[in-house]
Amino acid sequence: MSLFDLNGKVALVTGASSGIGQRQAQALATAGASVVLLGRRQQQLDDTVAQLATLGASTAALAVDLDDREQLAEVAARAALPFGAIDILINAAGVNLRQAVDEITLESWDQTINLNLTVPFFLARELLPAMRSKGWGRIINIASLQSSRAFANGLAYGASKGGIAQLTRAMAEAWSADGINCNAIAPGFFPTGLTAPVYQNPVMLDKLAGQTAIGRNGELADLDGISIFLASAASDYITGQVIHLDGGFTAK
Ligand SMILES: NC(=O)c1ccc[n+]([C@@H]2O[C@H](COP(=O)([O-])OP(=O)(O)OC[C@H]3O[C@@H](n4cnc5c(N)ncnc54)[C@H](OP(=O)(O)O)[C@@H]3O)[C@@H](O)[C@H]2O)c1
Repeated sequence: MSLFDLNGKVALVTGASSGIGQRQAQALATAGASVVLLGRRQQQLDDTVAQLATLGASTAALAVDLDDREQLAEVAARAALPFGAIDILINAAGVNLRQAVDEITLESWDQTINLNLTVPFFLARELLPAMRSKGWGRIINIASLQSSRAFANGLAYGASKGGIAQLTRAMAEAWSADGINCNAIAPGFFPTGLTAPVYQNPVMLDKLAGQTAIGRNGELADLDGISIFLASAASDYITGQVIHLDGGFTAK
């Protein structure tokens, strides 16, 4: 079996209706995994499932609003219905409200921390018993440049992404001995709905590209290798790591 082969594995990808999660779902599916795609927008999920079917992929849509964290046990149970127990969780659902200090409310703070930090832990914990019983699992969180850098209007988002980096290490410490490796990918700037305000500003985009060592911002295809790697046997001895997928932005 190839080190990167995901045949026989079942993945749940949150935030799979668009952007980074959607691309990661495609990457895992093309490596052989059966993938459950989670998001709120049923139509986008259905369109993605149909598009991946043309590539021969085995995927299913799960329309859920993760703002309702009381549902996570039910979400985990529903995720296992199409293909069986989940082996690989990618926590890619996220929100960046970009609020100035005075605009932040308790509600907007809670919304950001809940989706970006609380849900990744509690959803993973719901999936843990099945992973433990197989003695194998993979949890991939999505961190950010803001896990280690401060950006304007990034208070709640930065707090959530700093938190997810540390949560990744703590999950790895708690669960890796059971065969469940936990890592995070920290992307630089990628063209998605979340970064639309940045991508509307060509001067800003050029500046950000210039801050990388490679000299360009991210492309969604850049996610494929790292996503398959962290989901597969190729990364068996890697856990608790935050891997920067940023063209060297944080190296400079
Ligand atoms: N783009 C970048 O440059 C970049 C850089 C660093 C980190 N990230 C991180 O990457 C992750 C994905 O973001 P993206 O850039 O791909 O943006 P995006 O295209 O806006 O994707 C966000 C995803 O989260 C889902 N989502 C949002 N709220 C949800 C909710 N309440 N319940 C369920 N799903 C929800 C959205 O689906 P629905 O709208 O269908 O619910 C969508 O699929 C986020 O964690 C983000 O912080 C992105």
